[in-house]
Amino acid sequence: MKVLVVGGGGREHAIVWKIAQSPKVDKIYCAPGNAGIAELAECVPIGAMEFDKLVAFAKEAEIDLTVIGMDDPLVGGVVDAFEAAGLRVFGPRKNAAILEGSKAFSKDLMKKYNIPTAAYETFTSAEEALAYLETAPMPTVLKADGLALGKGVLICNTLEEAKEGVKTLMLDKQFGTAGDKIVIEEFMTGREVSVLSFVDGNTIRIMTSAQDHKRALDGDKGLNTGGMGTFSPSPFYTPEVDAFCKEYIYQATVDAMKAEGREFKGIIFFGLMLTEKGPKVLEYNARFGDPETQVVLPRMNNDIVEIFEACIDGTLDQYTLDFEDNAAVCVVLASDGYPVKYEKGYPIEGLDRFKDNDGYYCFHAGSKFDGDEQIVTNGGRVLGITATGSDLKEARKNAYAATEWVSFANKYMRHDIGKAIDEA
Ligand code: AMP
Ligand code: GLY
Repeated sequence: MKVLVVGGGGREHAIVWKIAQSPKVDKIYCAPGNAGIAELAECVPIGAMEFDKLVAFAKEAEIDLTVIGMDDPLVGGVVDAFEAAGLRVFGPRKNAAILEGSKAFSKDLMKKYNIPTAAYETFTSAEEALAYLETAPMPTVLKADGLALGKGVLICNTLEEAKEGVKTLMLDKQFGTAGDKIVIEEFMTGREVSVLSFVDGNTIRIMTSAQDHKRALDGDKGLNTGGMGTFSPSPFYTPEVDAFCKEYIYQATVDAMKAEGREFKGIIFFGLMLTEKGPKVLEYNARFGDPETQVVLPRMNNDIVEIFEACIDGTLDQYTLDFEDNAAVCVVLASDGYPVKYEKGYPIEGLDRFKDNDGYYCFHAGSKFDGDEQIVTNGGRVLGITATGSDLKEARKNAYAATEWVSFANKYMRHDIGKAIDEA
């Protein structure tokens, strides 16, 4: 088989790496890919939003299966474009990717189908949002309706901050049209867990749990980022939590989408908060998490291509997922200054050490070739250093040891990824 993966970050590197293990696969392409992905796949210089070019390439190269990694193309309808051309593709159609593409849609869906989530109101007028805030309990949470690179969520401690937030989202339009509509929701507290799942429209199969660290600085301080590190499994995702989510959240979401005429095939990523009143959905994503994927897929024993195909064909009920009884930790090596202002183009040294070193992975998030040989930094998040271990503590020790193997001029990382493990 020939497989095309669309995207070029650490998540796509992990997906490509996992696809490369499949005996069914002869050749992998990645659009646009990056310098790390280039070791396993032929990178094609087509952007993830260039649907016509992607479809034309898939036809010309006789691609048997295309896997979409990123949210933007999914929400924009890339799967519909592939299907219209008679091509096999893994991911939700546009009318289902709205589960991630519109927070107002997902909140309304949860309300209608009694799926536990924070109480909320939706606004399209800044004036009405401001009036509502006058009597709303603080802290409160403002969310831009549309995609905003994971940055459209504002936690506001005071009325002043919340008013400023409405201005940022709705009047100054910091996230463009994503802020034309906003959701204002109840502030919740508790542990966060990420749960990824495969869905074939009817059947859902849950992967092992993970936890992300979204803030830039140690101690969960600083700005929100795309994710500075992850660990899997989450020790807080107990069998009781799992049972609750299976009863009230996972299948309920798949059934709700079907009932709405928006059959979901692909990945549903449940962002959960384990509150005092039980698990609640913080958000849905319609794709693999980044960097959750970098800790989940190295623990997965199945042939991922078989599972992708089962989702497309509606035969997922014939498969069970199997995860290694171990743990994994991923520490992101970023460019100093990320997520605001940072420099790139610095040579990365030490990458060879990951070759033939079982249980250690270096997934590239932002890298490129400078000339034929030299790999240089090319983004805010540069590398995801993942290691496995028999338990979380060992995995963390291994991952941090491996962060020392690579160097580049403005290397930055958090030093407390997985610290919560000690409290479990
Ligand atoms: P989201 O993109 O909706 O996952 O939001 C990003 C982050 O904001 C989450 O991972 C949480 O840390 C935080 N967050 C979102 N919604 C809430 C909420 N209702 N209460 C508390 N924190 C929240
Ligand atoms: N790591 C969070 C996300 O992928 O949205």
